[in-house]
Amino acid sequence: MIAPSLLSADFAHLSQEMEWFNRSKADWLHLDIMDGVFVPNISFGFPVLKYVAELCTKPLDVHLMIVQPEKFVREVAALGAHVMSVHYEACPHLHRVLGQIRDAGMKAGVVLNPATPVSLLSDIICDADLVLLMSVNPGFGGQKFIPHTVEKVKQLRALIQESGSKALIEVDGGVTLENAPLLMQAGADVLVAGSSVFNAPNPEEACARFASL
Ligand code: DX5
Ligand code: ZN
Repeated sequence: MIAPSLLSADFAHLSQEMEWFNRSKADWLHLDIMDGVFVPNISFGFPVLKYVAELCTKPLDVHLMIVQPEKFVREVAALGAHVMSVHYEACPHLHRVLGQIRDAGMKAGVVLNPATPVSLLSDIICDADLVLLMSVNPGFGGQKFIPHTVEKVKQLRALIQESGSKALIEVDGGVTLENAPLLMQAGADVLVAGSSVFNAPNPEEACARFASL
């Protein structure tokens, strides 16, 4: 599956962006929320997201790069989000937060930064519907893919298999048409793509290319 990230969209023309997006081959719309504390950048907040949620006809994949994400479970659910993902590094009580997300009717995702090992997920993997592996340090679009992520996808696929978890594997950051096949072979289910979709000469065609891989 392909989940283009709104972070690289033209914010001055969001309704036009959503028009092509809705008829494209994209599976989910990935939404990156930043707080300037957990990551060194601020993206957009709920007033903008509410508008995007009204325009978008595809499932919303919400990635919170913020401290204390549990404070916003209700707001994310109110958007009608399909997935809400929180960072392992931001949640001392991860088991409780994942339960709150599921109770609110969403799929619960856990995100790992590049320096956080997959092995730390062994006691939570069966409570997660999705694991998002960051393949760049979060905070900005357009960064270079960290190649070690391919190895982490393989480790995560093995952990999912041996634990009987049904979690999907998603990869986020620096994903291109060149490295996407490697990630899929390693076991990734969902690929987030910001600049390689929205900065392409024809974003709708870029989605079609990812979808045909
Ligand atoms: C990075 C965000 C990503 C970002 C990906 O902090 O989590 O979702 O939009 O953008 P690209 O694909 O350009 O690396
Ligand atoms: Zn993201």
